[in-house]
Amino acid sequence: MVTEYFTVNEKNIDSEETAEFLAHCKEIIGEGGLVVFPTETVYGLGADALNGEAVKKIFTAKGRPADNPLIVHIADVKKADDVSSMTETERERFNKLAKAFWPGPLTMIVTKNESVPDAVTCGLGTVGIRLPENKYARKFIEAVGTPIAAPSANTSGKPSPTLASHVKEDMDGKVNAIIDGGACRVGLESTVIDLTGEVPCILRPGGVTLEMVKKILPEATQLAWKKEEQPKEDIEKPKSPGLKYKHYAPNAKVVILQGDSDTVAKRIAWALENARLRNAKAAAMITDEQKKYFSKEDNIVCMGKADDGETQAAKLFATLRDFDDCGITEVYATAMKEDGVGYAVMNRLYRAAGCLMVPCKKILFVCTGNTCRSFMAEYILKGLIEKRMAAGEIEACATEVSSAGVYAEDGGWPTENAVDVLKDIYEIDGSQHRATKVTAEILDKADLILTMTAGHKRVLLGFFPEYADKVFTLAEKACGGDVEDPFAGSYKTYVDSAMHIEEMIVKAGL
Ligand code: TXA
Ligand code: MG
Repeated sequence: MVTEYFTVNEKNIDSEETAEFLAHCKEIIGEGGLVVFPTETVYGLGADALNGEAVKKIFTAKGRPADNPLIVHIADVKKADDVSSMTETERERFNKLAKAFWPGPLTMIVTKNESVPDAVTCGLGTVGIRLPENKYARKFIEAVGTPIAAPSANTSGKPSPTLASHVKEDMDGKVNAIIDGGACRVGLESTVIDLTGEVPCILRPGGVTLEMVKKILPEATQLAWKKEEQPKEDIEKPKSPGLKYKHYAPNAKVVILQGDSDTVAKRIAWALENARLRNAKAAAMITDEQKKYFSKEDNIVCMGKADDGETQAAKLFATLRDFDDCGITEVYATAMKEDGVGYAVMNRLYRAAGCLMVPCKKILFVCTGNTCRSFMAEYILKGLIEKRMAAGEIEACATEVSSAGVYAEDGGWPTENAVDVLKDIYEIDGSQHRATKVTAEILDKADLILTMTAGHKRVLLGFFPEYADKVFTLAEKACGGDVEDPFAGSYKTYVDSAMHIEEMIVKAGL
């Protein structure tokens, strides 16, 4: 199939040429064909919603699973009656929300009527309806004169298209026509709200947020989407079929780092540096505020200010697609603020990352002088982290490691045997290490403090009892024994000590 392209803009929207092309679209849709059109959320892949055979073609073009229903798009609120058969409660909720948010990025799920083929709803008794705000979308729907079933115009599983060039990548040769209306304003798919249940429930967050809906329908709720927050039955049998599929995923492995903005930025900067040493193609998605932590060589995309969900939303999918185009294999993303539209941004990012969201943590090893045991522990764990990163476990970058000694002399050199053992056995250069004395400030910054022996723990808590809840012996975490002091011992004593530390670090799952 040869795909036709047409560009609409402010200048030609009311021109004869556009009217002619839209009349042509009416023919295509009337004959059961497919037309891609711009909306304010993302591009939609449209077919006649009342023609089951035409709708089936959408599933083929996208490679979409057969049990994931489509949204029906209309250009006039009254047309909702052509595809629905609402109960009184649904009608009341529908009217209120339509008045507040239509035209706009909100899809309402209500009881369907018999004119909607099973191909649209995948056999469900409900239908999702949306009246887009985008002028070109409405002009197209009006021109073709029938409700339009349309999912996002991407290949299933890929990020939704927010530019016609994205659509071309995925749909060229698979659809009859593509209408290019420029960049999509919102950049994330519509909020999907189910009005058929006991209380209205947002199934997919989007540009219309729960706070906004609650102003109209105070009883409204939303589905949890983070794995750890979801009830088990929702994971097994999601309320919206679309929720169970892999989504928005670029080819790269994506990890989201959580924590305070500065810590996250520093860990990401380190991860990029580490990737460079491995010759891996890595990139980062950060906020404007984090930019100061990065250098010119770093491949970063600033997604907007931390509290600017709108800008982040508009950039998200295009950024993920760009990463693919550049052959990026590792993406490090900062967690965004989950309020307003930022909540929907995080929902999409979370799914792009395959639910891989990890908190940044700081581990501090403590011994007496910070010249042997805690020093070796720090470098051994750092080495293990680098190995895990090289093996593709890029989430390991979230752990920052340091060490200090209760009676350390600041700036003191590490013992020669310890440096040699690190070099000989682990191929790690620890020669630049200098001892650090434990201070309240250092302890304060750590999330987990691990001492080499029970004695160290006792002494440390004697000085700083307020940190009791995060101080453990390495043995406690690894179900092992104290790491004996190799100081003044032979090279072999140091080897044994290092091996013991490594074994415990692995056992403790650090
Ligand atoms: O912004 C949007 O909504 C875009 C533009 C093109 O309008 N469309 C879009 O469609 O994102 P799609 O197919 O990619 O996502 C539709 C979502 C899916 O998660 C689907 O499972 C859900 O809406 N959905 C549709 N009908 C439903 C129904 N009757 N019950 C439950 N979920 C439904
Ligand atoms: Mg989609």
